[in-house]
Amino acid sequence: MADGHAHADAQPRLLAPAAMDDPYPLYHQLRATAPVRWDGSAWVLTRYADVLAVLRDPRARAARIDPDPTWLQQTGLEPLFTTHARMMLFTDPPDHTRLRGLLNTAFTPRVVEGLRSRITALVDELIDRIAAAGHTDLIQDLAYPLPVTVITELLGVPATMREQFRRWSDGLAAFIGGSSAPEMQTFAHAQRCMLELSDYLRGEIAARRQQPRADLLTALVQAEAAGDRLSSEELIANAILLLVAGHETTTNLIGNGVLALLRHPDQHRRLVEQPELIGSAVEELLRYDSPVQATSRIMADDLELDGQRIRRGQYVTLLLGAANRDPAQFPDPDRLDITRQPNRHLSFAHGPHFCLGAPLARLEAQIAIGRLLQRLPTLHLATDRLVWRDNFTLRGLTALPLRVA
Ligand code: HEM
Repeated sequence: MADGHAHADAQPRLLAPAAMDDPYPLYHQLRATAPVRWDGSAWVLTRYADVLAVLRDPRARAARIDPDPTWLQQTGLEPLFTTHARMMLFTDPPDHTRLRGLLNTAFTPRVVEGLRSRITALVDELIDRIAAAGHTDLIQDLAYPLPVTVITELLGVPATMREQFRRWSDGLAAFIGGSSAPEMQTFAHAQRCMLELSDYLRGEIAARRQQPRADLLTALVQAEAAGDRLSSEELIANAILLLVAGHETTTNLIGNGVLALLRHPDQHRRLVEQPELIGSAVEELLRYDSPVQATSRIMADDLELDGQRIRRGQYVTLLLGAANRDPAQFPDPDRLDITRQPNRHLSFAHGPHFCLGAPLARLEAQIAIGRLLQRLPTLHLATDRLVWRDNFTLRGLTALPLRVA
């Protein structure tokens, strides 16, 4: 585990921070020269067909958090790693089937559609403030507060804790996504965040045992109380997963998506003129600059791919962002085309771990971007220097300064 795979979804060493501004030329180069490439700690896959094949292959396991026990003991990082190993994202059947079954019903497209008017109200309120100011950092003023408010309301934790959640969530995201900071420093900080957040959730859970409410946390507490379907450790771990997943990713979809539109004035104009294209536009924005650039698996058996033998026990890094720009799957892949059809991107992955929150993320992004363009069609970039967050996997901007013309 101390080989670069200690964090949850290790990013290939090939991806130096320099590539973070724009990883796509490097992806193209890798796909053309070495589509299945050993980088010293993992096999790095850049072709659409290969990434899809691994996501579908039951020999490719999601339970990839398996640090050496002696190392864990020496470092004192046991709580961080065991908690992550209990998140559905990092489990295989039968645990995965059970955990996912418990949460599925809360995130179906039908249930999520019921949030439309609340999300629209939130978006309009946030845009009112932007309109009044005449300028904005879109990340701070819309892309971040929207998803965090929605997920905290769903779970039933107070939105007043938002800043605190953000700090905890950022610390955990650096662990899951991998940053350029020294590994041990990232781990220690992530563990502090995880322990504080767990303590906080324990209090909330205890309160719901006393007095059930109409929220997702209560539903999980009731599933736990119903018997052996959910342990209290699993409850905490998966509540943390939802909170973190509901924080970073949708923020980055809105931020990366609006940036892509502003950099392509013809597509921007088209969407302003034809707001009914918002559904396919959001799919294209997901493909074009994916908020989650990579995931990984560990092989439970040998696998032959592109003449290379991937051995049992080895890690495979799936570059979703590269698969989404594969010319063999997407004609003219570097072109942003908000009407692209078909558009079977892998931004939410595929197979048993297909993003649980996809219907929610789609709805939030459609409403946020749709309303923003409708109400403020003259928004434009107020800087030529954009700074990307220091996270290899969760790709997003630190700020997106815009001005209303
Ligand atoms: C644009 C926004 C989002 C993107 C791009 C995204 C992406 C992904 C991806 C790629 C995976 C699969 C990883 C793998 O197979 O290893 C995943 C899983 C997951 N996502 Fe999302 N996600 C987004 C938003 C959300 C939201 C809003 C939530 C929750 C409210 C959420 C909850 C989850 C959960 C719980 C899983 C684990 C599912 C499982 O293991 O069965 N995601 N997401």
